[in-house]
Amino acid sequence: MKKKLKVLVLSDGTRPTAADQDLTKELKSSEWKTEANVMDALKTLGHTAEHLALYDNVDVLRQKMEAFAPDVLFNLVEQFNNNPAFDQNIVSFFEMQGLPFTGCGSTGLTLCKHKGTAKKILHYHRIGTPNFVVVPRGQRAARPKHLKFPILIKPVKEEASYGISQASFVESDDEYRDRIAFIHDKYESAAMAEEYIDGRELYVSIMGNVRLTVFPFRELVFKQVPANEPKIATYKAKWDEEYRKRWGLENIYANGLDGALVSRIEDTCKRIYRLLTIDGYGRIDLRLTPDNQLYFIEANPNPHLAEDEDFAMSANKAGLKYPELIDRIVRQGMKTLRG
Ligand SMILES: Nc1ncnc2c1ncn2[C@@H]1O[C@H](COP(=O)(O)OP(=O)(O)O)[C@@H](O)[C@H]1O
Ligand SMILES: [Mg+2]
Repeated sequence: MKKKLKVLVLSDGTRPTAADQDLTKELKSSEWKTEANVMDALKTLGHTAEHLALYDNVDVLRQKMEAFAPDVLFNLVEQFNNNPAFDQNIVSFFEMQGLPFTGCGSTGLTLCKHKGTAKKILHYHRIGTPNFVVVPRGQRAARPKHLKFPILIKPVKEEASYGISQASFVESDDEYRDRIAFIHDKYESAAMAEEYIDGRELYVSIMGNVRLTVFPFRELVFKQVPANEPKIATYKAKWDEEYRKRWGLENIYANGLDGALVSRIEDTCKRIYRLLTIDGYGRIDLRLTPDNQLYFIEANPNPHLAEDEDFAMSANKAGLKYPELIDRIVRQGMKTLRG
């Protein structure tokens, strides 16, 4: 039997936290679903699990490490001081301290967060990426001639479809200028403008460091969206149940892909995972055109890990029950060589 471990589950605090804070109430809320699922799984596995939320003070981590002395950190931190730009800084801090932790290291997080940087690396290695430009704040927003409509405009570093709505899809120079200005002002962020790729939306979950496992693909389908309308995983499309029902949006297991195509997608996604130096576990988002061309949209290291989210659903389809998946993530985190 494998050794039982002491695991410290780290999550986001939205206000100042303490090392000995009781988070039982938070763990019952829908925002903490992932944390609750992971804590339950760790207990089912017989590990000793405790939790700590980080807000703007890393000293609570030092205090908790002294009091609990965990074998490994289960990292569910996505922000610091309410700012999601700092997830890689937290991980850099673990790395500097030599603390074993689950999921992706700081380099992978940094490369994937900047969608322009990730796409430049992949394009260099001849992986299909949409044509794009990044427009920094304060820069003139005229569309370069080589960028063809329709175009999708988004913040260059956000997650979870923040800043993405139907208005992100633009078909004229006026709309283009307006939407870039909107991203600059409202999101205080550089904007990324990329050619819109019409096709199926696939989510490919992978785990591992050296040897990689690719799980069965998930797909977002847009059942009631008319054929000539853009199909985009907007903020509402991800988080608003009413909206999802109205437009027939469903996350399902991708079907009807032949074996050769599945292998090509798996191989491409493994290359992407390695080129972007993801470790631990990740989800690669792609578009597959009607003539089977594959385009990289985004890589998500440390994707959402709740039991009913795409990553765990994919693992489950491969026969990996949720607690086993969590156990694998923990054991892999302990073995990962960082730096
Ligand atoms: N170039 C593109 N072509 C078609 N759809 C896109 C493109 N870029 C983004 N999208 C749509 O917008 C969604 C969110 O974009 P993404 O870059 O993954 O941002 P986020 O990090 O917020 O999830 C994608 O899942 C996809 O549906
Ligand atoms: Mg995405």
